[in-house]
Amino acid sequence: MRTLYDCLIETMDQQAAASPADGAILASWTQSERSEGQDFAFWKNFASTPYISFTHGERFATNHANDIAAEHYARYEDIGEMPAGGIVAKPTFSISPTGEALWETLFLMEKAAEGTSPDTNDWLYTAIMPDGTLMGRTLGANSDAMVFCASCHMGMGADTDDLTFLPEDYRVRN
Ligand code: HEC
Repeated sequence: MRTLYDCLIETMDQQAAASPADGAILASWTQSERSEGQDFAFWKNFASTPYISFTHGERFATNHANDIAAEHYARYEDIGEMPAGGIVAKPTFSISPTGEALWETLFLMEKAAEGTSPDTNDWLYTAIMPDGTLMGRTLGANSDAMVFCASCHMGMGADTDDLTFLPEDYRVRN
């Protein structure tokens, strides 16, 4: 599964270029108006192998953290607070009955400057569809559609700056 994932990440550009001619729903996150759609692939992956995320569509998932976020995310429950500029990306994918891997939704959490979004503890939640269109972003397009993200994260992650990490068995430790 890890090898498959590395291959998926490495070929993301070609996948975008290949769609939609061959009929499959392939990744176009790279064509999103949000640059994180392609940048995340270069960020540190904290999942030793993809795992099923039951709270994000029951799809396979990993968690990547950008340069600002990585050293903090690595502390897991001892994180304290994420500094402004920290972004965590959760790409998800499924395996079709014929064995093809298909990218699904890309989930992002970005910590904004203090006071930017008091209702969400300054976290901006973003979801990008497989075709690259924006499902929504806190304070941006379809902000209302992102309210449920904050509700769940603020509840489950009340002591960890709204982050909820990943199951212990799949964590990369420094
Ligand atoms: C019902 C609860 C729930 C909802 C709703 C939810 N999440 Fe999560 N989220 C979690 C849990 C639990 C984890 C960690 C475990 C996992 O990956 O399943 C997580 C992890 C994440 C992560 C990795 C950062 C972290 O917390 O460690 C991101 C990014 C993320 N979610 C974004 C979103 C976005 C964007 C939405 C809305 C479109 C959303 N989530 C909706 C529960 C939820």
